[in-house]
Amino acid sequence: MDAIAYTAYGGPEVTSIETFPIPQPGPEEVQVRTVGSGLNPIDKHQRGGAFKSIMPYQLPVIAGNEFSGHITALGSGVDGSQFAVGDAVICRVRKDKMDGMGAYVVQPASIVAKAPSSISLVDAAGLPLAGLTALQVLDRLDVKAGDRVLITGGSGGVGLFAIQLAKIRGAYVFTTASSAGRPYVEKAGADEVIDYKTEKLASYTPKNGQKWTKVFDAAGGEQTMIDDVIPSLQPGGHVVSVAGVMTPGIFDTILPYWKAVLVNAMLRYKAWSVTGAAAKADVKYEYIFMRPDGVELAQLAKYVDEGKLKVFVDSKFSLHDFKKAFEQLESGRSKGKVVIEWPQA
Ligand SMILES: NC(=O)c1ccc[n+]([C@@H]2O[C@H](COP(=O)([O-])OP(=O)(O)OC[C@H]3O[C@@H](n4cnc5c(N)ncnc54)[C@H](OP(=O)(O)O)[C@@H]3O)[C@@H](O)[C@H]2O)c1
Repeated sequence: MDAIAYTAYGGPEVTSIETFPIPQPGPEEVQVRTVGSGLNPIDKHQRGGAFKSIMPYQLPVIAGNEFSGHITALGSGVDGSQFAVGDAVICRVRKDKMDGMGAYVVQPASIVAKAPSSISLVDAAGLPLAGLTALQVLDRLDVKAGDRVLITGGSGGVGLFAIQLAKIRGAYVFTTASSAGRPYVEKAGADEVIDYKTEKLASYTPKNGQKWTKVFDAAGGEQTMIDDVIPSLQPGGHVVSVAGVMTPGIFDTILPYWKAVLVNAMLRYKAWSVTGAAAKADVKYEYIFMRPDGVELAQLAKYVDEGKLKVFVDSKFSLHDFKKAFEQLESGRSKGKVVIEWPQA
């Protein structure tokens, strides 16, 4: 089968279409014929070798972290009442290996969900990774009705989901965006938009009511966190970042004990400037990694079909134009998701 693969660690030049055997489902797994593959900033980091010392890949390796498609085979133990051959599904792949950009993908049934039926299956490929990230960070912040939350990076793939999900929970949402991103975050339901190119968070005066007490950081930037985000919070505030400085503990579940101890010592050292500034301001700062989850993914698909959650698709590319898709993602300017459409037999 065809797959978009990395032939080495490196820049865009190491990405090409290669031939791989069609993967077969084992127990509790499903095989899916791919219709769409979503792109995410992590693709670039994986290709560049950012996780090489923690999780080395056997090269050439199939790229991609999320996909949509139709089930073509069920592994033993997959309950027919859960999934059937032909079902349209979506998935954020398991974290110990990529493969969301193969013509066929095999994944554990537990992290797959039926695709929303009200949008195209190609667009649905953009839901899993960014949607689950948004949901899990809002959970971590315990965002609920009446909360005032700031979401930085509002016009990106994660941010546009985060704004909508925070509104579903009844929160009052502040977000940062450029003038180009403003129409998108407004469409997603943001209550107040702060232009990150011209305004400071620390000195921002809300148009309505109090300032935020919780921050979902999807924009990153170590100095911005220290100089502007943390000072924008009162003591007791909480920041959960998916884009900034990483904090110890995030690799504990995938590393052997001795390696986790070493990695945590290194992360503690690297995070000190931010965690120190947060401690001084009596603000809680933490970084989290999202995780695949079929039940949460089904909830997101339900929101889509109920008309409560929109998948903003910045751009769609054919498999043939996959290099352009990566270029668009790596521009860092996308307003929503970049997806690749697979040719169907
Ligand atoms: N930890 C995890 O598990 C996890 C999971 C998912 C994503 N992430 C990370 O989360 C971040 C966001 O991901 P994404 O998929 O949303 O990325 P993305 O779609 O590529 O984000 C692009 C958007 O970010 C906006 N932007 C750029 N710099 C900004 C800034 N300083 N302030 C506000 N907005 C800014 C851009 O707007 P303009 O072009 O208008 O400037 C653009 O619309 C990335 O760093 C990604 O690696 C982490």
